[in-house]
Amino acid sequence: MAKILYIDDEISALKAISAILKKEGYTVLTATSAEEGIEILKNSSVDCLLLDYRLPKMDGIDLLKWLRQSEISIPTIMLTAYGTIEKAVEAMKLGAHHYLVKPVDTQLLLNVLKEAIEKSKGNQKIEDIKSPFPEIIGKSKAMQEVFYIMQMVAESNANVLITGESGTGKELVARAIHNNSLRKSKPFVIVDCTTIPENLLESELFGHEKGAFTGASERKTGLIEIANEGTVFLDEIGELPMFLQKKLLRFLQEKEIQRIGSTQRIKVDVRVISATNRDLEKAVQEGSFREDLYWRLNVVRINLPPLRERKEDIPLLVNHFLNKFSKENNKPIPQLEPEVMELLLSYDWPGNIRELANVMERAVVLSPSGLISIKHLPRRIQEKTGWVAKNESSLNLLELEKSLIIKALNTTGWNQTKAAEILGISRKQLRTKMKHHGLLPKSEDE
Ligand SMILES: Nc1ncnc2c1ncn2[C@@H]1O[C@H](COP(=O)(O)OP(=O)(O)OP(=O)(O)O)[C@@H](O)[C@H]1O
Ligand SMILES: [Mg+2]
Repeated sequence: MAKILYIDDEISALKAISAILKKEGYTVLTATSAEEGIEILKNSSVDCLLLDYRLPKMDGIDLLKWLRQSEISIPTIMLTAYGTIEKAVEAMKLGAHHYLVKPVDTQLLLNVLKEAIEKSKGNQKIEDIKSPFPEIIGKSKAMQEVFYIMQMVAESNANVLITGESGTGKELVARAIHNNSLRKSKPFVIVDCTTIPENLLESELFGHEKGAFTGASERKTGLIEIANEGTVFLDEIGELPMFLQKKLLRFLQEKEIQRIGSTQRIKVDVRVISATNRDLEKAVQEGSFREDLYWRLNVVRINLPPLRERKEDIPLLVNHFLNKFSKENNKPIPQLEPEVMELLLSYDWPGNIRELANVMERAVVLSPSGLISIKHLPRRIQEKTGWVAKNESSLNLLELEKSLIIKALNTTGWNQTKAAEILGISRKQLRTKMKHHGLLPKSEDE
């Protein structure tokens, strides 16, 4: 069974967690300081390191740095208290495998330990690692980084700023953070700063008393108050007018709101996740966004890269959307003709994942036979990739040719020599055409 070194200066935690691990059959070594831990690491090999961040002299981060300098690679799980998110981020950058918030949930710890040890042994295939956020599709390095940060912040109360182009999944990520937080059973309230008219935004956010202004015939509870104990998602925060920026800042500092027309201060406990597709740093420089508010919102930053920078996620997303939309439309899951995927991979996706989702939905609906071909893609995609120019005139002929080749191959059990005979061309010509139509098996495709 695996050997774990657990370093923590808090004796009660040390005892309790060691006991749990031993009961699970692990061999547990303990140390109460980083220095003591280093002595152990010098003399024996361990399979996993469980490391408290706050330690008397050298802290957890220092120890990670020491490991790195010494070129010792041990999967490390950091334990931290609330309020040290930045440190946790630093720890992950230094190669920590995972980060858990104290007091630690026992089952979570055991799962993470098992995963860390398996992974270090190289026993685990990427496919086997269960995504912590199954509704968010993506395997690319960029998305794995996003998942890491999401996991780290989910359980904390840190404010999160999500940036990324339109359609990259900002709202999806915000919701997932809420759903994986301790606030998950409380409201997730969305405030879209662009769709609410400016003159209404203040009372939408903070509420008002009856008679506070003309038209305020009833008392109204603001969205921030409604989100109490939950999360408020401020979408397109870059559009928030100056006077509301000031008011929002005051709320973030004091954790109190005042309804319009009221002198009463109401305590509100909400976590703020904001999102923008604008360059907020630039807005700060230009003076249209308050710098102090920017720093309050931007405790942890999650940047969602555009789809064109993580094209390796496209096939996964395509599959995901084919499944989703065929289910929604009561259709069998369609197949893609090989050149369709090629085209999808060469397109730039200015509308990112939202655009890809729309394209796949349209294709599912338009393809009657359960086979999606290029003609089921919107013309802008065909055009953008130069496909139309190349193929417009010969499209139908090419399709005809392809279907003839497939027919010939099917009749001959994919015997290329016989199929070529049927078609009246040489085997070499047939192979050239098969390659062109994406019909050659990958292994033969030189
Ligand atoms: N990684 C992903 N996996 C699966 N679906 C995704 C992913 N990213 C985004 N989507 C889907 O794409 C659509 C757009 O996502 P979302 O609304 O979160 O984007 P956004 O960044 O908020 O866009 P905007 O800036 O235009 O508001 C949604 O339907 C969402 O579910
Ligand atoms: Mg959005």
